[in-house]
Amino acid sequence: KIKSVKARQVFDSRANPTVEVDITLKDETVGRGIVPSGASTGLFEAVELRDGEETFDGKGVSKAIHHVNEQLAPLLLDIDVRDQKAIDSRLIEIDGTPNKSRLGANAILGCSMAACWAGANYYKVPLYRYLGGSAANKLPVPMVQIIGGGAHADNAIDIQDFLVIPTSAPTFSEGYEMVVNVYNAAKMIFKGAGKPVSIADEGGLWPTGFQSNEEGLKLLCESIELAGYTPGQDLGIALDIASSEFYDPERGTYRLELEEKTLTKEEMVGMLSDWVDKYPIISIEDGMSELDWEGNLLLTQKLGKKIQLIGDDLFTTNIERIRKGVEMKVDNAVLIKMNQIGTITETIETIEFTQNHGYLPVVSARSGETEDCTIVHLAIATNAGQLKVGSAARSERTAKWNEVLRIEEALGSSARYPSKGVFAAAGI
Ligand code: PGA
Ligand code: ZN
Repeated sequence: KIKSVKARQVFDSRANPTVEVDITLKDETVGRGIVPSGASTGLFEAVELRDGEETFDGKGVSKAIHHVNEQLAPLLLDIDVRDQKAIDSRLIEIDGTPNKSRLGANAILGCSMAACWAGANYYKVPLYRYLGGSAANKLPVPMVQIIGGGAHADNAIDIQDFLVIPTSAPTFSEGYEMVVNVYNAAKMIFKGAGKPVSIADEGGLWPTGFQSNEEGLKLLCESIELAGYTPGQDLGIALDIASSEFYDPERGTYRLELEEKTLTKEEMVGMLSDWVDKYPIISIEDGMSELDWEGNLLLTQKLGKKIQLIGDDLFTTNIERIRKGVEMKVDNAVLIKMNQIGTITETIETIEFTQNHGYLPVVSARSGETEDCTIVHLAIATNAGQLKVGSAARSERTAKWNEVLRIEEALGSSARYPSKGVFAAAGI
């Protein structure tokens, strides 16, 4: 049984305040969760409650913290912490809104995460084992940012993430090492070109002085080669276009500021599919806007059998939105972010729904992160198969990748690693 629930203010990787919750059990076992925060957030996400007052530019979380300590804490004390579903249902019920806007998804998720860790710590087992039982043994294929753009780099380029996915490595650790080598090679190329080696919000290189978005793709191929690998064979390219950020819903057009181009949805699909022909791209996220179902359908008809197409802002980890995608045959993968939906139970249900409908779940961090590693365990507990947590630099990112390395070691010979076979479940 829970003895106490305590929320406090801590800070995330963008120097913004966020909510940390500690749940202490009667036997003094403690569980802790720290809530992440996005910048290119989807319109249909659960509501992150910010104070909106002068402190921290409106980004204070004192109201959310107050909601945990005053409203949620007293009503959690009689529940068995091992019953995560009961805890999460209680949290949802107390809030009483469909998008967690009354108490805040950040208040609710902090409690949900802390309860989950308290349960695992009570049994003295790792969280992935606690949530996933003995079947949890699939290590995720990493999707790692090399260059950060869009809202994560002050819009220096329009496209948000240029990432790589190792495809020839037989284990997670070997795959991740390849990625690290590519990241360091990209740094050398930046230095060689006289570009400053500064980094964007998720640790990827800051795209200074780019003439076009496509330059990022060329640079990725060069970096893969400089690191001694073959693009398309050893590592593939993934893009998060985050196109909702530059979509004009009234005109139905896409504005690429860097190139001073405005594209119709057909032209946007054309540009992406040209890139897929020219470069070894194996995954595109939010190629079209969260408001543009028609454009998303066009893109899926064009590329959905060839590469992974992920809905992030489009689906916002929400089963009802994913159901619509499945019915319309839009995309073939879902980005999974705990704070888009707001509880651990709902996140797991969304992953299962995704898998049961032949779509691929990609468990993801946010651009504002902390040392919290819950998502790594969630990915392994559900055998999700893929993990995206930003780049290979900055401790809030390496906290997650390093946790996978530790779990790989702990699993030993029982570990499974899908490598590029991970895409097969979606017929790619
Ligand atoms: P966000 O970015 O956390 O700022 O939303 C991550 C993503 O778009 O995948
Ligand atoms: Zn995204």
